[in-house]
Amino acid sequence: MPELPHDRLPDSTLAFLREGYAFIANRSRRYRSDVFETRLLLQPVTCVRGADAARVFYSDRFQRDGASPAVARRTLFGEGGVQGLDDAPHHHRKQMFMSLMTPAAIDDLADRFATGWRDATTRWSQHEEVVLYDEVARLLCEAVCAWAGVPLPEEEVAQRTDDLVALFHPAGFPHVPYLSARRARRRTDAWIGDLVEQTRGGALQPPAGSALQVVATHRDPAARLLPTEVAAVEVINVLRPTVAITNYIVFAALALHEHPGWRDRLAGGPEEEVEWFVQEVRRTAPFFPAAVARVRHDFDWDGARFPAGRRVLLDLYGTNRHPGLWDDPDRFDPERFATWDGNPFTLIPQGGGDHHTGHRCAGEWVTIRLMQTAVRLLTREMAYTVPHQDLQVSLSRMPARPRSGVVIRDVRPVE
Ligand code: HEM
Repeated sequence: MPELPHDRLPDSTLAFLREGYAFIANRSRRYRSDVFETRLLLQPVTCVRGADAARVFYSDRFQRDGASPAVARRTLFGEGGVQGLDDAPHHHRKQMFMSLMTPAAIDDLADRFATGWRDATTRWSQHEEVVLYDEVARLLCEAVCAWAGVPLPEEEVAQRTDDLVALFHPAGFPHVPYLSARRARRRTDAWIGDLVEQTRGGALQPPAGSALQVVATHRDPAARLLPTEVAAVEVINVLRPTVAITNYIVFAALALHEHPGWRDRLAGGPEEEVEWFVQEVRRTAPFFPAAVARVRHDFDWDGARFPAGRRVLLDLYGTNRHPGLWDDPDRFDPERFATWDGNPFTLIPQGGGDHHTGHRCAGEWVTIRLMQTAVRLLTREMAYTVPHQDLQVSLSRMPARPRSGVVIRDVRPVE
């Protein structure tokens, strides 16, 4: 078997941090190969990108047990959650998440979010300017907590929002993030763990079908309740990523600012164009750089040996911009979605494959829906200006966001 291209450095962790989202694509271009080997955190890693690689990555040749680095489990994901499960235990737990994603439930969450946004627009209009990032994070936190059956007193909104944001967006890059995220994780785990126990003890009665009620009463295949800490991690697996949709909404606002023709078009255009726009924002905006899994048993693919236990990174960002899959991939062009075939392995910002049976994001439909809601509100229900500010997006900051958080000025509700 021919040798796979191999990074020359003994360890590429620093290069990964420096190049960020572009790390895998840079090397794929350099080596003219969508598969190459490197070393990250002193371990051998195989990097892959593209739809064919995604199809293999989301097959039973890979497992998630032991795949994500401890640092991610201690902050972003928490320990014992669905992300690290395989096979029957994964299917069973994933079903719990997917049962929350009914069309009626998604409508309900979108309505709560839109109502909060409309009220906020009046408040924003009384200020000279507001930072959209901070405002949207707060609105999403309030909406998702109410939707999930999680009580959130007014005086706690700011702290809880900051903690949920810190789980995926630790402050103080590059030195403090780990500690700030650890503290946020401990506080959030304790908060939600307490609510799980109150629900089980009957002191709290979240609505039937809400995330808190469903997770607190969920039984594993052996009919046991989840340990409290794991139940807390799973409720947070709904709250945290919903608040993280803030990043995409802010990227959507940035795209509206950079493409005023689309702003005008969406203000009065057909609904399907809002969907194209949102898909194009998800395709182009940097969020999760890669997904990670481990090889279950040795296998060969595309001229490469994948030894059992090897960590493999699937380039999500690079697949969404792969020149072999997308015409003129770096151009922002929502219209490409007018003819997109819906291939589950080409547009993979939230993972690929099947939502129910694989590890693809449980909240993808919620994400699309809340982004559509925000884009409609931004284009049809309010007027504002975007003052001069630092809108740069650094690809070495993961997750990325426009540096200013997108400041908007002179907000007015539009009837
Ligand atoms: C998994 C991205 C929103 C719940 C994932 C994965 C990615 C992702 C990349 C991992 C795929 C893999 O491991 O192969 C995102 C992004 C979001 C978002 C970029 C928007 C900002 C949401 C929302 C929810 C959610 C709103 C819930 C309401 C989950 C869960 C998993 C997951 C439970 C684990 C699925 C599994 O392991 O089977 N997401 N997500 N996500 N996401 Fe999301």
